[in-house]
Amino acid sequence: MNTITKDLSAAVGAAFEECGYGASHGIVTPSNRPELCQFQCNGAFAAAKKHGVAPMVVAAEVAERLQGGTFCRAEAVKPGFINITLTDEYLAARCAEIALDPFLGVPQTGAGSTVVVDYGGANVAKPLHVGHLRAAIIGEAVKRLARASGMKAIGDVHMGDWGLQMGLVIAQLSEQNPHWRCFAPDFDPEKDTVPPLNVDELNDIYPEASKRSKTDAEFNEKAHRITAELQAGHPAYTAVWREIMRVSVDDLKRNYGRLRVSFELWYGESDAEKYVPDMMEILRSSGFLRFSDGAQIVDVEEPGDTAPVPPVIVKKSDNSNMYATTDLATLLQRERDFSPDEIWYFTDKRQNLHFKQVFRCAKKTGIVPEKTGLFHMGFGTMNGPDGKPFKTREGGVMRLSELLDSVTAAALSKLKDSEFVQEGDQTALAEKVGIAALKFGDMINHPTKDYVFDMDKLLSFEGKTGVYLLYTVTRINSILRKAGPGSGEAPPSGVYSASERDLMLTLVMTGDAYEHALAERSPSYICDNAYRTAVAFSRFYHENHILTEQDPVKRSSWLALCRLTGRLLTAQLDVLGIETVENM
Ligand code: ARG
Repeated sequence: MNTITKDLSAAVGAAFEECGYGASHGIVTPSNRPELCQFQCNGAFAAAKKHGVAPMVVAAEVAERLQGGTFCRAEAVKPGFINITLTDEYLAARCAEIALDPFLGVPQTGAGSTVVVDYGGANVAKPLHVGHLRAAIIGEAVKRLARASGMKAIGDVHMGDWGLQMGLVIAQLSEQNPHWRCFAPDFDPEKDTVPPLNVDELNDIYPEASKRSKTDAEFNEKAHRITAELQAGHPAYTAVWREIMRVSVDDLKRNYGRLRVSFELWYGESDAEKYVPDMMEILRSSGFLRFSDGAQIVDVEEPGDTAPVPPVIVKKSDNSNMYATTDLATLLQRERDFSPDEIWYFTDKRQNLHFKQVFRCAKKTGIVPEKTGLFHMGFGTMNGPDGKPFKTREGGVMRLSELLDSVTAAALSKLKDSEFVQEGDQTALAEKVGIAALKFGDMINHPTKDYVFDMDKLLSFEGKTGVYLLYTVTRINSILRKAGPGSGEAPPSGVYSASERDLMLTLVMTGDAYEHALAERSPSYICDNAYRTAVAFSRFYHENHILTEQDPVKRSSWLALCRLTGRLLTAQLDVLGIETVENM
Protein backbone atom coordinates (compact mmCIF):
# COMPACT_ATOMS: atom_id res chain seq x y z
CA MET A 1 0.00 0.00 0.00
CA ASN A 2 1.02 3.60 -0.56
CA THR A 3 0.85 6.06 2.29
CA ILE A 4 -2.35 8.05 2.63
CA THR A 5 -0.58 11.31 1.82
CA LYS A 6 0.78 9.77 -1.36
CA ASP A 7 -2.66 8.55 -2.43
CA LEU A 8 -4.17 11.93 -1.64
CA SER A 9 -1.38 13.74 -3.47
CA ALA A 10 -2.08 11.60 -6.52
CA ALA A 11 -5.78 12.48 -6.42
CA VAL A 12 -5.21 16.17 -5.82
CA GLY A 13 -2.39 16.21 -8.39
CA ALA A 14 -4.78 14.72 -10.95
CA ALA A 15 -7.26 17.48 -10.20
CA PHE A 16 -4.55 20.13 -10.71
CA GLU A 17 -3.65 18.44 -13.98
CA GLU A 18 -7.25 18.39 -15.19
CA CYS A 19 -7.48 22.10 -14.45
CA GLY A 20 -4.35 22.64 -16.55
CA TYR A 21 -1.82 23.39 -13.81
CA GLY A 22 0.37 20.30 -13.62
CA ALA A 23 0.15 17.42 -11.16
CA SER A 24 3.28 18.39 -9.23
CA HIS A 25 1.30 21.05 -7.36
CA GLY A 26 -0.84 18.44 -5.65
CA ILE A 27 1.39 17.64 -2.67
CA VAL A 28 -0.80 16.87 0.33
CA THR A 29 0.39 17.02 3.94
CA PRO A 30 -1.33 16.45 7.27
CA SER A 31 -3.20 19.53 8.38
CA ASN A 32 -1.54 22.19 10.52
CA ARG A 33 -4.99 22.93 11.96
CA PRO A 34 -6.58 19.54 12.70
CA GLU A 35 -9.69 21.28 14.06
CA LEU A 36 -10.43 22.61 10.54
CA CYS A 37 -9.54 19.69 8.31
CA GLN A 38 -7.50 16.49 8.20
CA PHE A 39 -5.09 17.30 5.35
CA GLN A 40 -4.06 20.30 3.32
CA CYS A 41 -2.53 21.21 0.00
CA ASN A 42 -0.78 24.54 -0.54
CA GLY A 43 0.04 23.96 -4.20
CA ALA A 44 -2.40 26.59 -5.48
CA PHE A 45 0.05 29.35 -4.55
CA ALA A 46 2.87 28.11 -6.78
CA ALA A 47 0.47 27.13 -9.58
CA ALA A 48 -1.14 30.59 -9.46
CA LYS A 49 2.21 32.35 -9.62
CA LYS A 50 3.26 30.29 -12.60
CA HIS A 51 0.03 30.89 -14.50
CA GLY A 52 -0.54 34.51 -13.48
CA VAL A 53 -3.89 33.98 -11.73
CA ALA A 54 -5.08 34.47 -8.17
CA PRO A 55 -4.33 31.52 -5.81
CA MET A 56 -7.92 31.48 -4.64
CA VAL A 57 -9.10 30.94 -8.21
CA VAL A 58 -6.84 27.93 -8.63
CA ALA A 59 -7.77 26.52 -5.21
CA ALA A 60 -11.49 26.87 -5.97
CA GLU A 61 -11.16 25.19 -9.36
CA VAL A 62 -9.20 22.28 -7.95
CA ALA A 63 -11.50 21.87 -4.93
CA GLU A 64 -14.48 21.84 -7.29
CA ARG A 65 -12.92 18.98 -9.25
CA LEU A 66 -12.48 16.92 -6.11
CA GLN A 67 -16.10 17.22 -4.98
CA GLY A 68 -18.59 14.44 -5.09
CA GLY A 69 -16.12 11.55 -5.00
CA THR A 70 -16.16 8.84 -2.39
CA PHE A 71 -12.57 9.58 -1.45
CA CYS A 72 -12.45 13.02 0.11
CA ARG A 73 -14.05 16.43 0.44
CA ALA A 74 -12.08 19.52 -0.49
CA GLU A 75 -12.63 23.15 0.31
CA ALA A 76 -10.84 26.24 -0.98
CA VAL A 77 -9.99 28.64 1.82
CA LYS A 78 -8.67 32.18 1.44
CA PRO A 79 -6.14 33.15 0.32
CA GLY A 80 -5.68 29.85 -1.58
CA PHE A 81 -5.40 26.84 0.73
CA ILE A 82 -7.12 23.59 -0.13
CA ASN A 83 -8.45 21.85 2.96
CA ILE A 84 -9.07 18.16 2.58
CA THR A 85 -11.09 15.73 4.65
CA LEU A 86 -11.54 12.03 3.93
CA THR A 87 -15.07 10.73 3.65
CA ASP A 88 -16.17 8.41 6.42
CA GLU A 89 -16.77 5.60 3.91
CA TYR A 90 -13.24 5.91 2.65
CA LEU A 91 -11.76 6.10 6.14
CA ALA A 92 -13.48 2.88 7.17
CA ALA A 93 -12.58 1.17 3.88
CA ARG A 94 -8.96 2.19 4.24
CA CYS A 95 -8.81 0.78 7.77
CA ALA A 96 -10.27 -2.47 6.43
CA GLU A 97 -7.63 -2.50 3.70
CA ILE A 98 -4.82 -1.99 6.23
CA ALA A 99 -6.18 -4.85 8.33
CA LEU A 100 -5.96 -7.15 5.29
CA ASP A 101 -2.56 -5.92 4.12
CA PRO A 102 0.24 -8.35 5.11
CA PHE A 103 2.44 -5.30 5.84
CA LEU A 104 -0.28 -3.48 7.78
CA GLY A 105 -0.14 -0.48 5.46
CA VAL A 106 3.62 0.03 5.70
CA PRO A 107 4.82 0.99 2.20
CA GLN A 108 7.36 -1.51 0.88
CA THR A 109 9.68 1.16 -0.47
CA GLY A 110 12.79 -0.78 0.52
CA ALA A 111 11.91 -4.01 -1.28
CA GLY A 112 14.85 -5.37 -3.24
CA SER A 113 17.55 -3.40 -1.46
CA THR A 114 20.10 -4.46 1.13
CA VAL A 115 21.47 -2.49 4.05
CA VAL A 116 24.23 -3.33 6.50
CA VAL A 117 23.57 -1.70 9.85
CA ASP A 118 26.65 -1.16 12.02
CA TYR A 119 25.56 -0.53 15.58
CA GLY A 120 26.38 -1.60 19.09
CA GLY A 121 30.10 -0.99 18.82
CA ALA A 122 30.86 -2.73 22.12
CA ASN A 123 34.49 -2.93 23.12
CA VAL A 124 35.73 -6.33 24.20
CA ALA A 125 37.25 -6.61 27.67
CA LYS A 126 35.66 -3.34 28.69
CA PRO A 127 32.26 -3.57 30.34
CA LEU A 128 29.37 -2.39 28.21
CA HIS A 129 28.55 1.06 29.49
CA VAL A 130 25.78 3.58 29.16
CA GLY A 131 27.53 5.22 26.21
CA HIS A 132 26.73 2.16 24.11
CA LEU A 133 23.07 2.16 25.09
CA ARG A 134 21.83 4.54 22.43
CA ALA A 135 23.81 2.88 19.63
CA ALA A 136 22.21 -0.44 20.55
CA ILE A 137 18.62 0.64 20.89
CA ILE A 138 18.44 3.16 18.06
CA GLY A 139 20.42 0.93 15.69
CA GLU A 140 18.22 -2.06 16.46
CA ALA A 141 15.05 -0.03 15.86
CA VAL A 142 16.29 1.44 12.58
CA LYS A 143 17.31 -2.04 11.41
CA ARG A 144 13.79 -3.29 12.15
CA LEU A 145 12.33 -0.23 10.45
CA ALA A 146 14.33 -1.04 7.32
CA ARG A 147 12.98 -4.58 7.43
CA ALA A 148 9.42 -3.39 7.90
CA SER A 149 9.80 -1.42 4.66
CA GLY A 150 10.94 -4.53 2.79
CA MET A 151 14.71 -4.08 2.93
CA LYS A 152 17.09 -6.90 3.64
CA ALA A 153 18.88 -5.62 6.74
CA ILE A 154 22.01 -7.17 8.23
CA GLY A 155 23.10 -6.00 11.66
CA ASP A 156 26.78 -6.12 12.58
CA VAL A 157 27.92 -5.40 16.15
CA HIS A 158 31.40 -4.43 14.94
CA MET A 159 33.14 -5.00 18.26
CA GLY A 160 36.25 -3.16 19.25
CA ASP A 161 38.35 -6.29 19.73
CA TRP A 162 41.68 -5.37 18.21
CA GLY A 163 43.07 -2.24 19.73
CA LEU A 164 45.37 -1.32 22.55
CA GLN A 165 42.82 -2.42 25.14
CA MET A 166 43.57 -6.02 24.20
CA GLY A 167 47.28 -5.47 24.69
CA LEU A 168 46.62 -3.80 28.04
CA VAL A 169 44.51 -6.67 29.30
CA ILE A 170 46.98 -9.32 28.14
CA ALA A 171 49.88 -7.39 29.69
CA GLN A 172 48.03 -7.17 33.00
CA LEU A 173 47.15 -10.87 32.90
CA SER A 174 50.77 -11.75 32.26
CA GLU A 175 51.93 -9.74 35.29
CA GLN A 176 49.28 -11.26 37.52
CA ASN A 177 49.82 -14.82 36.30
CA PRO A 178 53.47 -15.14 35.23
CA HIS A 179 53.25 -18.91 35.79
CA TRP A 180 50.59 -19.43 33.09
CA ARG A 181 51.90 -21.67 30.31
CA CYS A 182 50.75 -19.17 27.71
CA PHE A 183 53.29 -16.69 29.02
CA ALA A 184 56.18 -19.17 28.96
CA PRO A 185 58.74 -18.76 26.20
CA ASP A 186 58.19 -22.38 25.09
CA PHE A 187 54.37 -22.08 24.82
CA ASP A 188 53.05 -24.77 22.51
CA PRO A 189 49.63 -23.93 20.98
CA GLU A 190 49.06 -27.65 20.30
CA LYS A 191 49.40 -28.75 23.92
CA ASP A 192 49.12 -25.73 26.21
CA THR A 193 45.84 -24.10 27.10
CA VAL A 194 44.82 -20.79 28.66
CA PRO A 195 43.12 -21.10 32.07
CA PRO A 196 39.44 -20.11 31.88
CA LEU A 197 38.69 -16.50 32.72
CA ASN A 198 35.47 -15.15 34.15
CA VAL A 199 33.68 -11.98 33.31
CA ASP A 200 34.02 -10.28 36.69
CA GLU A 201 37.76 -10.77 36.67
CA LEU A 202 37.90 -9.47 33.15
CA ASN A 203 35.83 -6.41 33.93
CA ASP A 204 38.24 -5.49 36.73
CA ILE A 205 41.38 -6.04 34.69
CA TYR A 206 40.89 -3.41 32.02
CA PRO A 207 40.40 -0.42 34.36
CA GLU A 208 43.44 -1.51 36.40
CA ALA A 209 45.60 -1.96 33.34
CA SER A 210 44.48 1.30 31.81
CA LYS A 211 45.22 3.19 35.04
CA ARG A 212 48.61 1.59 35.40
CA SER A 213 49.61 2.37 31.81
CA LYS A 214 49.22 6.06 32.54
CA THR A 215 51.87 6.10 35.28
CA ASP A 216 54.03 3.07 34.46
CA ALA A 217 55.92 3.73 31.23
CA GLU A 218 57.44 0.26 31.09
CA PHE A 219 54.05 -1.39 31.44
CA ASN A 220 52.62 0.93 28.82
CA GLU A 221 55.35 -0.02 26.41
CA LYS A 222 54.77 -3.69 27.09
CA ALA A 223 51.05 -3.29 26.32
CA HIS A 224 51.89 -1.61 23.01
CA ARG A 225 54.36 -4.33 22.14
CA ILE A 226 51.86 -7.07 22.95
CA THR A 227 49.20 -5.31 20.83
CA ALA A 228 51.54 -5.23 17.85
CA GLU A 229 52.58 -8.86 18.37
CA LEU A 230 48.97 -9.96 18.73
CA GLN A 231 48.09 -8.19 15.48
CA ALA A 232 51.01 -9.95 13.81
CA GLY A 233 49.61 -13.35 14.86
CA HIS A 234 51.68 -14.24 17.97
CA PRO A 235 50.38 -17.76 18.89
CA ALA A 236 50.29 -17.41 22.70
CA TYR A 237 48.75 -13.94 22.70
CA THR A 238 46.23 -15.15 20.15
CA ALA A 239 45.28 -17.98 22.50
CA VAL A 240 44.76 -15.54 25.39
CA TRP A 241 42.88 -13.20 23.07
CA ARG A 242 40.51 -16.06 22.14
CA GLU A 243 39.77 -16.76 25.78
CA ILE A 244 39.07 -13.08 26.43
CA MET A 245 36.77 -13.03 23.40
CA ARG A 246 34.91 -16.13 24.54
CA VAL A 247 34.09 -14.67 27.95
CA SER A 248 33.44 -11.17 26.66
CA VAL A 249 31.16 -12.05 23.78
CA ASP A 250 29.13 -14.25 26.07
CA ASP A 251 28.62 -11.36 28.45
CA LEU A 252 27.86 -8.91 25.63
CA LYS A 253 25.23 -11.26 24.25
CA ARG A 254 23.61 -11.47 27.66
CA ASN A 255 23.43 -7.69 28.07
CA TYR A 256 22.27 -7.00 24.53
CA GLY A 257 19.75 -9.80 24.97
CA ARG A 258 18.26 -8.08 28.02
CA LEU A 259 17.83 -5.02 25.81
CA ARG A 260 16.21 -7.16 23.10
CA VAL A 261 19.00 -6.23 20.73
CA SER A 262 20.48 -8.92 18.50
CA PHE A 263 22.95 -8.98 15.65
CA GLU A 264 23.21 -11.13 12.57
CA LEU A 265 26.97 -10.69 12.50
CA TRP A 266 29.32 -10.74 15.45
CA TYR A 267 32.30 -9.40 13.57
CA GLY A 268 34.88 -7.25 15.20
CA GLU A 269 37.68 -4.98 14.12
CA SER A 270 39.95 -8.05 14.13
CA ASP A 271 37.93 -9.54 11.26
CA ALA A 272 38.88 -6.58 9.09
CA GLU A 273 42.57 -7.40 9.43
CA LYS A 274 42.63 -9.80 6.49
CA TYR A 275 41.12 -7.18 4.17
CA VAL A 276 43.74 -4.57 4.98
CA PRO A 277 46.30 -5.62 2.30
CA ASP A 278 43.69 -5.60 -0.50
CA MET A 279 42.24 -2.35 0.76
CA MET A 280 45.72 -0.77 0.77
CA GLU A 281 46.21 -2.00 -2.78
CA ILE A 282 42.99 -0.27 -3.86
CA LEU A 283 44.17 2.96 -2.22
CA ARG A 284 47.56 2.71 -3.88
CA SER A 285 46.22 2.01 -7.34
CA SER A 286 43.64 4.79 -7.02
CA GLY A 287 46.59 7.18 -6.96
CA PHE A 288 45.23 9.02 -3.93
CA LEU A 289 47.49 7.45 -1.31
CA ARG A 290 50.47 9.60 -0.40
CA PHE A 291 53.24 9.67 2.17
CA SER A 292 53.43 12.40 4.73
CA ASP A 293 56.14 12.29 7.42
CA GLY A 294 56.33 8.54 6.94
CA ALA A 295 52.60 8.05 7.44
CA GLN A 296 50.31 7.03 4.57
CA ILE A 297 47.38 9.34 4.09
CA VAL A 298 44.54 10.21 1.72
CA ASP A 299 43.32 13.80 1.33
CA VAL A 300 39.57 14.10 1.67
CA GLU A 301 38.99 17.84 1.76
CA GLU A 302 36.30 19.10 -0.61
CA PRO A 303 35.80 22.60 -2.05
CA GLY A 304 32.52 23.31 -0.26
CA ASP A 305 33.79 22.41 3.23
CA THR A 306 33.00 25.02 5.83
CA ALA A 307 35.15 23.36 8.50
CA PRO A 308 38.53 21.68 8.03
CA VAL A 309 38.44 18.00 7.07
CA PRO A 310 41.94 16.63 7.70
CA PRO A 311 43.40 13.77 5.62
CA VAL A 312 42.64 10.18 6.63
CA ILE A 313 45.68 8.54 8.19
CA VAL A 314 45.61 4.98 6.91
CA LYS A 315 48.99 3.80 8.23
CA LYS A 316 51.08 5.45 10.90
CA SER A 317 54.80 5.88 10.26
CA ASP A 318 55.47 2.63 12.16
CA ASN A 319 53.09 0.95 9.68
CA SER A 320 50.49 0.29 12.36
CA ASN A 321 46.77 0.55 11.66
CA MET A 322 44.38 3.23 12.78
CA TYR A 323 40.64 3.23 13.56
CA ALA A 324 40.10 4.47 9.98
CA THR A 325 42.17 1.59 8.58
CA THR A 326 39.82 -0.97 10.11
CA ASP A 327 36.76 0.92 8.95
CA LEU A 328 38.04 1.14 5.37
CA ALA A 329 38.93 -2.56 5.38
CA THR A 330 35.52 -3.39 6.83
CA LEU A 331 33.88 -1.46 4.00
CA LEU A 332 35.74 -3.67 1.55
CA GLN A 333 34.57 -6.79 3.41
CA ARG A 334 30.95 -5.57 3.34
CA GLU A 335 31.18 -4.70 -0.33
CA ARG A 336 32.56 -8.15 -1.16
CA ASP A 337 30.17 -10.11 1.04
CA PHE A 338 26.91 -8.28 0.37
CA SER A 339 27.43 -5.44 -2.14
CA PRO A 340 24.88 -3.54 -0.07
CA ASP A 341 22.92 -0.58 -1.43
CA GLU A 342 23.33 1.16 1.91
CA ILE A 343 25.55 0.99 4.99
CA TRP A 344 24.39 2.81 8.10
CA TYR A 345 26.49 3.48 11.20
CA PHE A 346 25.23 4.39 14.64
CA THR A 347 27.61 5.95 17.14
CA ASP A 348 27.66 9.07 19.22
CA LYS A 349 28.25 12.34 17.44
CA ARG A 350 31.87 12.66 18.56
CA GLN A 351 32.66 10.32 15.66
CA ASN A 352 31.04 12.54 12.99
CA LEU A 353 34.35 13.67 11.53
CA HIS A 354 35.82 10.17 11.51
CA PHE A 355 32.96 8.86 9.39
CA LYS A 356 32.97 11.84 7.09
CA GLN A 357 36.66 11.15 6.36
CA VAL A 358 36.18 7.39 5.97
CA PHE A 359 33.17 7.75 3.64
CA ARG A 360 34.90 10.28 1.41
CA CYS A 361 38.02 8.15 1.23
CA ALA A 362 36.07 4.96 0.42
CA LYS A 363 34.15 6.58 -2.43
CA LYS A 364 37.04 8.56 -3.84
CA THR A 365 39.31 5.52 -4.02
CA GLY A 366 36.59 3.13 -5.17
CA ILE A 367 36.47 0.80 -2.13
CA VAL A 368 32.71 1.14 -2.51
CA PRO A 369 30.86 2.33 -5.61
CA GLU A 370 29.75 5.96 -5.80
CA LYS A 371 26.10 4.90 -5.61
CA THR A 372 26.39 3.12 -2.24
CA GLY A 373 24.53 5.08 0.41
CA LEU A 374 26.90 5.61 3.33
CA PHE A 375 25.23 7.20 6.31
CA HIS A 376 26.36 7.95 9.83
CA MET A 377 23.92 8.79 12.57
CA GLY A 378 25.83 10.69 15.24
CA PHE A 379 23.55 10.79 18.23
CA GLY A 380 23.41 13.03 21.25
CA THR A 381 24.19 12.11 24.82
CA MET A 382 22.02 10.72 27.56
CA ASN A 383 22.50 13.23 30.35
CA GLY A 384 21.91 13.16 34.07
CA PRO A 385 19.68 15.68 35.87
CA ASP A 386 22.65 18.09 35.97
CA GLY A 387 22.67 18.23 32.17
CA LYS A 388 26.05 16.46 32.01
CA PRO A 389 26.64 12.96 30.60
CA PHE A 390 24.94 10.39 32.80
CA LYS A 391 27.17 8.97 35.57
CA THR A 392 26.94 6.69 38.58
CA ARG A 393 26.31 8.26 41.96
CA GLU A 394 30.05 8.06 42.59
CA GLY A 395 30.70 9.94 39.37
CA GLY A 396 32.00 7.00 37.32
CA VAL A 397 30.77 5.67 34.02
CA MET A 398 27.75 3.47 34.66
CA ARG A 399 27.77 -0.08 33.38
CA LEU A 400 24.86 -0.98 31.21
CA SER A 401 23.96 -3.98 33.37
CA GLU A 402 23.79 -1.70 36.39
CA LEU A 403 21.48 0.72 34.59
CA LEU A 404 19.22 -2.14 33.47
CA ASP A 405 19.09 -3.45 37.05
CA SER A 406 18.16 -0.08 38.44
CA VAL A 407 15.44 0.49 35.84
CA THR A 408 14.03 -2.96 36.58
CA ALA A 409 14.06 -2.27 40.33
CA ALA A 410 12.30 1.06 39.83
CA ALA A 411 9.71 -0.60 37.57
CA LEU A 412 9.12 -3.24 40.23
CA SER A 413 8.37 -0.73 42.94
CA LYS A 414 6.15 1.23 40.57
CA LEU A 415 4.19 -1.89 39.66
CA LYS A 416 3.74 -2.78 43.32
CA ASP A 417 2.20 0.64 44.00
CA SER A 418 0.00 0.53 40.96
CA GLU A 419 -3.71 -0.15 41.18
CA PHE A 420 -3.64 -1.92 37.82
CA VAL A 421 -1.28 -4.68 38.68
CA GLN A 422 -2.02 -8.16 39.87
CA GLU A 423 -0.54 -10.12 42.74
CA GLY A 424 2.36 -12.49 42.51
CA ASP A 425 5.96 -12.28 41.42
CA GLN A 426 6.39 -9.30 39.21
CA THR A 427 10.13 -9.47 38.56
CA ALA A 428 9.95 -10.74 34.99
CA LEU A 429 7.20 -8.24 34.20
CA ALA A 430 9.21 -5.45 35.83
CA GLU A 431 12.21 -6.19 33.63
CA LYS A 432 10.04 -5.99 30.50
CA VAL A 433 8.31 -2.81 31.66
CA GLY A 434 11.57 -1.22 32.75
CA ILE A 435 13.35 -1.98 29.49
CA ALA A 436 10.34 -0.78 27.49
CA ALA A 437 10.34 2.46 29.46
CA LEU A 438 14.05 2.98 28.99
CA LYS A 439 13.97 2.31 25.26
CA PHE A 440 10.87 4.36 24.53
CA GLY A 441 12.14 7.21 26.71
CA ASP A 442 15.29 7.31 24.64
CA MET A 443 13.75 6.93 21.21
CA ILE A 444 10.98 9.47 21.68
CA ASN A 445 13.79 12.02 21.26
CA HIS A 446 15.30 12.65 17.86
CA PRO A 447 18.58 10.69 17.91
CA THR A 448 20.72 13.73 17.18
CA LYS A 449 19.48 15.46 20.36
CA ASP A 450 20.83 15.11 23.90
CA TYR A 451 18.23 14.25 26.50
CA VAL A 452 17.95 14.02 30.26
CA PHE A 453 17.44 10.61 31.80
CA ASP A 454 14.60 10.89 34.32
CA MET A 455 13.54 7.56 35.79
CA ASP A 456 10.25 8.83 37.24
CA LYS A 457 9.18 10.34 33.97
CA LEU A 458 10.13 7.24 31.98
CA LEU A 459 8.10 4.98 34.21
CA SER A 460 4.96 7.10 34.36
CA PHE A 461 1.66 5.49 33.37
CA GLU A 462 0.74 8.74 31.67
CA GLY A 463 2.32 10.78 28.92
CA LYS A 464 4.71 9.77 26.19
CA THR A 465 6.06 6.68 27.88
CA GLY A 466 6.67 3.07 27.04
CA VAL A 467 4.59 2.15 30.07
CA TYR A 468 1.54 3.99 28.73
CA LEU A 469 1.93 2.22 25.39
CA LEU A 470 2.26 -1.22 26.98
CA TYR A 471 -0.73 -0.50 29.15
CA THR A 472 -2.84 0.52 26.14
CA VAL A 473 -2.03 -2.73 24.37
CA THR A 474 -2.95 -4.82 27.41
CA ARG A 475 -6.22 -2.94 27.68
CA ILE A 476 -7.07 -3.61 24.04
CA ASN A 477 -6.24 -7.28 24.43
CA SER A 478 -8.40 -7.51 27.50
CA ILE A 479 -11.39 -5.99 25.63
CA LEU A 480 -10.95 -8.48 22.82
CA ARG A 481 -10.67 -11.36 25.30
CA LYS A 482 -13.85 -10.30 27.06
CA ALA A 483 -15.66 -9.93 23.73
CA GLY A 484 -14.97 -13.58 22.97
CA PRO A 485 -13.08 -15.55 20.34
CA GLY A 486 -12.95 -14.18 16.82
CA SER A 487 -14.05 -10.71 17.86
CA GLY A 488 -12.69 -7.84 15.82
CA GLU A 489 -11.95 -10.00 12.84
CA ALA A 490 -14.68 -8.61 10.58
CA PRO A 491 -13.59 -5.31 8.98
CA PRO A 492 -14.72 -1.95 10.41
CA SER A 493 -17.93 -1.02 8.62
CA GLY A 494 -18.29 2.72 9.11
CA VAL A 495 -17.75 5.67 11.40
CA TYR A 496 -20.20 5.98 14.28
CA SER A 497 -18.61 8.62 16.54
CA ALA A 498 -16.23 11.56 16.38
CA SER A 499 -13.65 9.94 18.63
CA GLU A 500 -13.43 6.89 16.42
CA ARG A 501 -12.98 9.08 13.36
CA ASP A 502 -9.95 10.60 15.07
CA LEU A 503 -8.64 7.17 15.96
CA MET A 504 -9.09 5.94 12.38
CA LEU A 505 -7.25 8.95 11.11
CA THR A 506 -4.24 8.20 13.30
CA LEU A 507 -4.34 4.58 12.11
CA VAL A 508 -4.29 5.54 8.43
CA MET A 509 -1.39 7.94 9.09
CA THR A 510 0.81 5.12 10.39
CA GLY A 511 2.33 4.37 6.97
CA ASP A 512 3.48 7.99 6.76
CA ALA A 513 5.12 7.70 10.18
CA TYR A 514 7.14 4.70 9.00
CA GLU A 515 8.18 6.49 5.84
CA HIS A 516 9.24 9.58 7.75
CA ALA A 517 11.11 7.55 10.37
CA LEU A 518 13.00 5.63 7.72
CA ALA A 519 13.88 8.73 5.71
CA GLU A 520 15.53 10.26 8.78
CA ARG A 521 16.50 6.95 10.39
CA SER A 522 14.75 8.26 13.45
CA PRO A 523 12.50 5.95 15.48
CA SER A 524 11.11 9.08 17.16
CA TYR A 525 8.41 9.35 14.47
CA ILE A 526 7.22 5.84 15.28
CA CYS A 527 7.17 6.67 19.01
CA ASP A 528 5.16 9.78 18.31
CA ASN A 529 2.69 8.03 16.05
CA ALA A 530 2.24 5.18 18.54
CA TYR A 531 1.64 7.68 21.31
CA ARG A 532 -0.94 9.60 19.27
CA THR A 533 -2.67 6.33 18.45
CA ALA A 534 -2.80 5.37 22.13
CA VAL A 535 -4.25 8.75 23.09
CA ALA A 536 -6.88 8.53 20.34
CA PHE A 537 -7.70 5.00 21.45
CA SER A 538 -8.19 6.09 25.08
CA ARG A 539 -10.71 8.72 24.01
CA PHE A 540 -12.50 6.31 21.72
CA TYR A 541 -12.67 3.76 24.53
CA HIS A 542 -13.98 6.24 27.09
CA GLU A 543 -16.58 7.74 24.81
CA ASN A 544 -18.04 4.50 23.51
CA HIS A 545 -19.35 1.55 25.50
CA ILE A 546 -17.89 -1.07 23.25
CA LEU A 547 -18.68 -4.28 25.09
CA THR A 548 -22.22 -3.31 26.13
CA GLU A 549 -23.24 -1.82 22.77
CA GLN A 550 -26.58 -3.31 21.70
CA ASP A 551 -26.32 -2.61 17.96
CA PRO A 552 -24.38 -5.63 16.62
CA VAL A 553 -23.11 -3.74 13.55
CA LYS A 554 -21.62 -0.96 15.65
CA ARG A 555 -20.21 -3.34 18.24
CA SER A 556 -18.52 -5.44 15.61
CA SER A 557 -17.06 -2.40 13.87
CA TRP A 558 -15.73 -1.05 17.16
CA LEU A 559 -14.15 -4.35 18.04
CA ALA A 560 -12.54 -4.39 14.59
CA LEU A 561 -11.08 -1.00 15.38
CA CYS A 562 -9.79 -2.26 18.73
CA ARG A 563 -8.13 -5.19 17.05
CA LEU A 564 -6.55 -3.12 14.30
CA THR A 565 -5.29 -0.57 16.85
CA GLY A 566 -3.79 -3.40 18.90
CA ARG A 567 -2.09 -4.91 15.87
CA LEU A 568 -0.68 -1.59 14.69
CA LEU A 569 0.58 -0.66 18.15
CA THR A 570 2.14 -4.07 18.69
CA ALA A 571 3.88 -3.85 15.31
CA GLN A 572 5.22 -0.40 16.11
CA LEU A 573 6.46 -1.49 19.51
CA ASP A 574 8.11 -4.44 17.82
CA VAL A 575 9.90 -2.11 15.41
CA LEU A 576 11.11 -0.23 18.47
CA GLY A 577 12.34 -3.53 19.88
CA ILE A 578 9.82 -3.41 22.71
CA GLU A 579 8.03 -6.56 23.79
CA THR A 580 4.37 -6.26 24.78
CA VAL A 581 3.11 -7.88 27.99
CA GLU A 582 0.02 -9.97 28.73
CA ASN A 583 -1.17 -8.12 31.80
CA MET A 584 -0.21 -5.05 33.73
N1 ARG B 1 33.92 0.52 19.19
C1 ARG B 1 33.63 1.87 18.83
C2 ARG B 1 33.44 2.72 20.08
O1 ARG B 1 33.18 2.23 21.15
C3 ARG B 1 32.39 2.00 17.96
C4 ARG B 1 32.43 1.28 16.64
C5 ARG B 1 31.48 1.88 15.66
N2 ARG B 1 31.53 1.26 14.36
C6 ARG B 1 32.50 1.44 13.45
N3 ARG B 1 32.42 0.79 12.31
N4 ARG B 1 33.50 2.25 13.66
O2 ARG B 1 33.55 3.93 19.99
